[in-house]
Amino acid sequence: MTAKLTERSEWKALELHYAEMKDAHLRDLFADAGRAAQFTLKAEDLLLDYSKNRISAETMDKLIALAESADLKKWIEAMFTGEKINATEDRSVLHVALRSPKDAVIEVDGENVIPAIHAVLDQMAAFSNKVRSGEWKGYTGKPIKNIVNVGIGGSDLGPVMAYEALKCYSQRGLNLIFVSNVDGTHIAEALQGLDAEETLFIVASKTFTTQETMTNAHSARTWCLESLKDDAAIAKHFVALSTNGAAVSEFGIDTANMFAFWDWVGGRYSLTSAIGLPVMLAIGPENFTELLDGYHKMDTHFRTAPLAENMPVILAMLGIWYNNFFGAESQAILPYDQYLSRFAAYFQQGDMESNGKSTTRSGEKVEWQTGPVIWGEPGTNGQHAFYQLIHQGTKLIPCDFLAFCKSQNPISDHHVKLMANFFAQTEALAFGKTAESLKAEGVPAELIPHKTFEGNRPTNSIMAERLTPSVLGQLVALYEHKIFVQGIVWDIYSFDQWGVQLGKVLAAEILPELEVDTELAHDSSTNALIEYFRANK
Ligand code: F6P
Repeated sequence: MTAKLTERSEWKALELHYAEMKDAHLRDLFADAGRAAQFTLKAEDLLLDYSKNRISAETMDKLIALAESADLKKWIEAMFTGEKINATEDRSVLHVALRSPKDAVIEVDGENVIPAIHAVLDQMAAFSNKVRSGEWKGYTGKPIKNIVNVGIGGSDLGPVMAYEALKCYSQRGLNLIFVSNVDGTHIAEALQGLDAEETLFIVASKTFTTQETMTNAHSARTWCLESLKDDAAIAKHFVALSTNGAAVSEFGIDTANMFAFWDWVGGRYSLTSAIGLPVMLAIGPENFTELLDGYHKMDTHFRTAPLAENMPVILAMLGIWYNNFFGAESQAILPYDQYLSRFAAYFQQGDMESNGKSTTRSGEKVEWQTGPVIWGEPGTNGQHAFYQLIHQGTKLIPCDFLAFCKSQNPISDHHVKLMANFFAQTEALAFGKTAESLKAEGVPAELIPHKTFEGNRPTNSIMAERLTPSVLGQLVALYEHKIFVQGIVWDIYSFDQWGVQLGKVLAAEILPELEVDTELAHDSSTNALIEYFRANK
């Protein structure tokens, strides 16, 4: 039994060390010319330069010691070998199995899960090939042109992110559309101008009970039948991605058109399960296999590299350094690649639904900060929106900057301009601009306080040669495992999400009250708001 996090000697050593480091400036730390080399790590196709952090070699040693004190290696093995580490749901956590090679053996309740995973991947590939080639015909004999993925949360954000990220690998004639919000506007706008005869719906839901998805799926079904006028058309225009075969059948989708996954795949970790079908349809089975291989490379690095040379561990422990010692509340993810426009949004769920917890694994209230607020937008757009606050605001916001050496769209000098901004921002954030240099430039005295940049804003730079399917897989697995490490150190359960339940339960109670004017028994605010809605709907 490990001691409580804040009572461990490793934690206390970091507290003392923080007192020594909190005022150290990156300008001074960079007096050591070897610093960049010292704090740069390569793993597979990724390069991580973490030298622009407020750390010394001693900091990293102490952070790694803290990770060791949490039995991290043991927990990593427990995940990879299928132990039921999602204890509050009594489940294994095996998204890593989804990208394991055919000859791997990973057991859940004594059964090797790998053959079933590859059987579904083969089923997905056969189906994708048929749709992509036009062999799969709609009910009236026309090939599919539009694919509408109906899902939410992990059954939407991952496929959207990966589809956007790998758009240049996609079959352009196929129009992929994602519908998630229960707001009817989403599906109404999505279906504008579509021809049901050429449209395939993918109903993506692990549980097949989620209100938003089932509501959208039923509306899609109605829309489809309004045109095709025969229930038999559903078999040609609807497929399901789910763990719940019974509910899929009940909806009217033939289970032959269902792509299965399992309860040991968390929704926000499900992109490499059947939930990835829209991505496979877009980019083809070969590219999808390359994506899985990329994930597996990072999985293997995470499982085997020593903690001090382990990229997810380093990112995680740096996050803990700022979150728990510097008091940083958030973490920005800033990709300098338009294709990664949904990357931060994806990891908002990935991180915040995983580590937004305040109870330890043994059921006590945590006495330390846990998951940060994750946010971000692609550069350079963010520069013209919120970077001002990162540069000169009062909040410390550690940032991950991501970029690629080669553009997928090398048009004139766009890419070098993009990259110049990428390099400039981390430099400016780290080193700032002093009052002395402003004075030397002749800046009027009254403007100097406003134009001074304190600097010392920490950043990680993550780079790769090009955003290939494999590199995307490596990046996503990198962040998945970072989240895992932080959850282990914070002693919380990262793979349940009880916090989303209460709102769902209350919404179900309120729904009939919005349809029939019954007496309301909520608090005065909720009652009044519902009355206002009733009076004005
Ligand atoms: O937001 C809660 C949640 O359960 C997520 O964890 C999940 O990704 C999402 O809802 C969708 O769930 P499902 O795939 O079962 O429809």
